[in-house]
Amino acid sequence: MQSSAQFVPSVAETDSLRVGVVGLGFAGTTHLDAFTALPGATVVALAGQEPARLAELGSTRNVPNLYADWQDLVARDDIDVVSIGVPNDLHHPIAVAALNAGKHVFCEKPLAVSGLLAAEMVEAARRNDRVLEVAYNHRRRADVQYLRRYLDDRPLGAVYHTRASWLRRSGIPGMGSWFTSKAAAGGGPLIDLGSHVLDIALYLLDEPRVKSVSAIAHNELGRAGRGGGHHQVSGGASGVAFDVEDFTSALLRFEDGSSMHLEASWASYSKANEDIEVELLGAEGGARLHVDNYATSGTVTLYQDVAGAPSIVRPTITVPSGHHQAVIAEFIAAITSGNYEKHYGEFALHRSRVVDAIYRSAHEGREVEVA
Ligand SMILES: NC(=O)c1ccc[n+]([C@@H]2O[C@H](COP(=O)([O-])OP(=O)(O)OC[C@H]3O[C@@H](n4cnc5c(N)ncnc54)[C@H](O)[C@@H]3O)[C@@H](O)[C@H]2O)c1
Repeated sequence: MQSSAQFVPSVAETDSLRVGVVGLGFAGTTHLDAFTALPGATVVALAGQEPARLAELGSTRNVPNLYADWQDLVARDDIDVVSIGVPNDLHHPIAVAALNAGKHVFCEKPLAVSGLLAAEMVEAARRNDRVLEVAYNHRRRADVQYLRRYLDDRPLGAVYHTRASWLRRSGIPGMGSWFTSKAAAGGGPLIDLGSHVLDIALYLLDEPRVKSVSAIAHNELGRAGRGGGHHQVSGGASGVAFDVEDFTSALLRFEDGSSMHLEASWASYSKANEDIEVELLGAEGGARLHVDNYATSGTVTLYQDVAGAPSIVRPTITVPSGHHQAVIAEFIAAITSGNYEKHYGEFALHRSRVVDAIYRSAHEGREVEVA
């Protein structure tokens, strides 16, 4: 453990939430920079297992308290918020410990590696009356927000089917790292990428409940060592080469009789590049979000009948970056509001249960009910 002198808040910092960030990879660094950029929060502690990176982030971001292990960070009684950017299997122990210690928690997606563990996290948030927020940052894209506003007027009529997918041609992250270990990650592209498009779709559809799912999963490329991508991972080797899927396809049935086709791949011999898609088919119109390789314009198409003729509308929307910052700003606002009833992580729990059901359906080869 690397520790520094006891932290004494400065006058300026006493008005801020005191934040400890766990993780030094893409997620942890993004959380660190987002909290640092926002008013109302000061990052006072950082934890992670790459000593050189820890020292570099500590000095460049002016974080005074540095730890190798999350337990030492959570043990500090002068921290209000713990921000979690570590492998998926660590979300549950860190969040539950932090919530039980009276801290608010900002957690990376997925909430946990299983619906059961996710439920325990939500229960800990509710019992301790602390905010548990999850980093579904892509819903904060300007094009998703545009669609959310567009749908508020119900121009599509009843949406009876949705297609949601995140597909890569060649993008398995960190082959042999925690990402490709079932125990550490909970699964492959479904839990990693599919959970984002599932979130966007459920958010746009006003949170319908998924009743049952029928799914398949394959791992032809990953288990053959093909399909690795450029995605950098900080965590070391997991000891497992590849025991997750590289492709999942699922049909979801909602309680109201509508449906969704959800697909996610890290690798596939296909036209996919890095394609995010959510397409809504309504009785009176349609809408499509298609983001090709993190495109920042031209991503929304609307389908309507205008004066009786099938018509296509392409609104001009530019998508700035900073989606994590937007989610973290909402998290800070939720804490400041003092009313946490809608912020115990319940919407993320439903997503975890849907992901669980998809894996179970693929494993058992049959349609299964969502818990
Ligand atoms: N929302 C997004 O867009 C997005 C993008 C990437 C990753 N993620 C999520 O963020 C999380 C982390 O992903 P990543 O790509 O940053 O992973 P990573 O492997 O690059 O980084 C993981 C970090 O966790 C740290 N860590 C591991 N064990 C620890 C311990 N016991 N104590 C303290 N630190 C510990 C490691 O030292 C490392 O710095 C995952 O849950 C992933 O799903 C989300």
